[in-house]
Amino acid sequence: AATRYEAEAAPATCAGAIESNHAGYSGGGFCNGDNTVDAATQFTVTAAEAGTATIAIRYANGATDNRPTDVLVNGAVAHSGTAFDPTGAWSTWGTKTFTVFVNAGANTIRLDPTTAAGLANIDYLDL
Ligand code: GCU
Ligand code: CA
Repeated sequence: AATRYEAEAAPATCAGAIESNHAGYSGGGFCNGDNTVDAATQFTVTAAEAGTATIAIRYANGATDNRPTDVLVNGAVAHSGTAFDPTGAWSTWGTKTFTVFVNAGANTIRLDPTTAAGLANIDYLDL
């Protein structure tokens, strides 16, 4: 079973504000990142063993353009400029999955927006 890491809960960090004004989120809220390049959300996750793993990120993007985002694992770009596509409304949540290589133990997963639009609103990461 996956472990859920909420964006609003430590050890996650949010370069913006934790908000709860758009319904449908999990837990106590979501990260509304600042609308600037590099306003990142970072998760720290624990893996039982080293190897490839699938992560799922729940997000909402009520804007009309995608929000290009680098996915960094332990500081290295694993997926570059991936599109977090519009979900139709800020209260409509979608999921993006990525395959990443993780180490045994703690790993950082950083979502780093590559444009001035910033990130989509980020709800959680499942590993
Ligand atoms: C709106 C919305 C926010 C969102 C922001 C954005 O202000 O209410 O939740 O983060 O747009 O464009 O990033
Ligand atoms: Ca925002």
